[in-house]
Amino acid sequence: MERTITVFRGDGIGPEITACVLEILEAAGAGLTYEIYDVGEAEWQKHGALIPEAAYQSFERTRILLKSPITTPIGKGFRSLNVTLRKKYDLYANIRPAKSSTAVKTPFHDIDMVIFRENTEDLYVGIEKQVDENTIHATKVITRKASERIIRDAFDYARAHGRKKVSCIHKANILKMSDGLFLSIFQDIAREYPEIETNDKIIDNTCMQMVMNPNQFDVLVMPNLYGDLISDLASGLIGGLGLLPSSNLGKDYAMFEAVHGSAPDIAGQHIANPTALLWSACMMLEYMKDFACASRIRRAVDLVLEDGSVLTPDLGGHASTEAYRDAIIAKLD
Ligand code: NAI
Repeated sequence: MERTITVFRGDGIGPEITACVLEILEAAGAGLTYEIYDVGEAEWQKHGALIPEAAYQSFERTRILLKSPITTPIGKGFRSLNVTLRKKYDLYANIRPAKSSTAVKTPFHDIDMVIFRENTEDLYVGIEKQVDENTIHATKVITRKASERIIRDAFDYARAHGRKKVSCIHKANILKMSDGLFLSIFQDIAREYPEIETNDKIIDNTCMQMVMNPNQFDVLVMPNLYGDLISDLASGLIGGLGLLPSSNLGKDYAMFEAVHGSAPDIAGQHIANPTALLWSACMMLEYMKDFACASRIRRAVDLVLEDGSVLTPDLGGHASTEAYRDAIIAKLD
């Protein structure tokens, strides 16, 4: 398959895992051409832009972006580039599948849930206002338009993939108007999908039940902030952030990235697990309808995980990122 995609290398562990993933895609015969850009703070220091204009133009041409994590300063500095990209290209549907692998040892088994996170509003609109010296207000935005489309996508996905249940996660007991709107839209749309079981849960109860009885969850849909939190929790159930991929889809553009961040604590040590970015690349191949190549890679990863002799430290092994990459390439059929 001949196709050009845009790649943002990111920072922290970004460049290491990106290099691995591109080599595996090449070895699996994905047949892609890449337009690769460095983005983030280092790029800003060198050339005065966090994302170079040419990188935006590339994404606008290819409409598909494989993005590795980017560091965001905490409590000061520039706005998250991730939030910027999601907003600029209206990548409203953040889809994060969390599935247990029998080969990865965790106390939890048979987890198979898909999180639909609204990706463009909620507290992430970044509207904060100083009211007086000791008071800051942050604005949470929930709109009918954004809520309807993510909720509908979750139901359409459930229907298309034979999923049994869709759960709405919210805090409408406290945020009666904003989360109340999200919940009432969910209840309206649910009536159009009578074959799918539905329920709703308050976010705090959801956190407890995710740990006590995670197998009850199937497809989940929720506003932006809860989706961010629940995704990391879900990654903990299946073996860690190194295993949770995602797609960020809009009407015209698609971006694929690992759920984890730039992991500065292990950057440059060549011990990062590239699986989350690799599975994100598989979601990208599936989006491009190259199902054969995606499943070739998924099979090879499963074989390496099951074999268990070449694993990165986050999965209890001692292998380097590159040794893990080579083990996957060796298992490609
Ligand atoms: P993080 O996800 O980077 O790391 C959390 C923990 O998980 C760390 O101990 C890290 O070593 C580990 N970890 C993460 N990915 C791993 C992998 N592939 N293999 C092995 N271990 C892995 O979260 P943290 O430390 O809170 O954030 C670091 C930076 O990343 C921040 O600047 C944050 O804003 C940014 N970030 C960027 C995201 C993105 O670009 N999409 C998403 C989340 C955070």
